[in-house]
Amino acid sequence: MVERKTPVEVKFSTKKDLPASQLDELFSAIGWRPRGETKWTRALEKSSLVLTAWDEERIVGMGRILEDGVMCMFYDIGVHPDYQRQTIGSQIMEKLIDEVKDKEYASIGLFAWEENPANIPLYEKFGFVKREGGMELVKYMKPE
Ligand SMILES: CC(C)(COP(=O)(O)OP(=O)(O)OC[C@H]1O[C@@H](n2cnc3c(N)ncnc32)[C@H](O)[C@@H]1OP(=O)(O)O)[C@@H](O)C(=O)NCCC(=O)NCCS
Repeated sequence: MVERKTPVEVKFSTKKDLPASQLDELFSAIGWRPRGETKWTRALEKSSLVLTAWDEERIVGMGRILEDGVMCMFYDIGVHPDYQRQTIGSQIMEKLIDEVKDKEYASIGLFAWEENPANIPLYEKFGFVKREGGMELVKYMKPE
């Protein structure tokens, strides 16, 4: 287990007009495939909430929500490795949950990337429970 560090002061923003290059840098550092400007523009526009954590001019964490009025999903929850274990992931979760908790949704979901040992404990800490029965139509999906 990585030791908890003294929390760095970050500012949060919900603006959607974000530099794709910075988001891709964050994704690459986390180990996810970069998306490129076109896909980022599409994804951010269609998200109901885009939350980014900033250290000065640098995006160091993010999370976003897709909502349809009946249910919602959280996506792209990630913190730059240099900034992990400093409560930023928890602050992102708190803010995403605050956004949807009183909307009486039939489902509030996310996909947990089980390879990362930090994920499930983080989500469980905020009340998410594992559900059986999740499936994906993989043959029509194009990996990023
Ligand atoms: C998951 C992630 C967002 C957590 O962000 P973070 O800022 O480090 O999280 P916090 O410092 O707020 O820690 C919150 C909780 O997460 C869990 N956690 C965080 N890092 C952990 C680690 N290295 N090992 C085990 N649990 C960990 C713990 O439950 C922790 O609570 P605790 O401090 O009371 O033990 C971050 O590790 C990350 O970006 N990982 C890579 C991307 C990823 O896998 N995203 C999820 C996609 S499904």
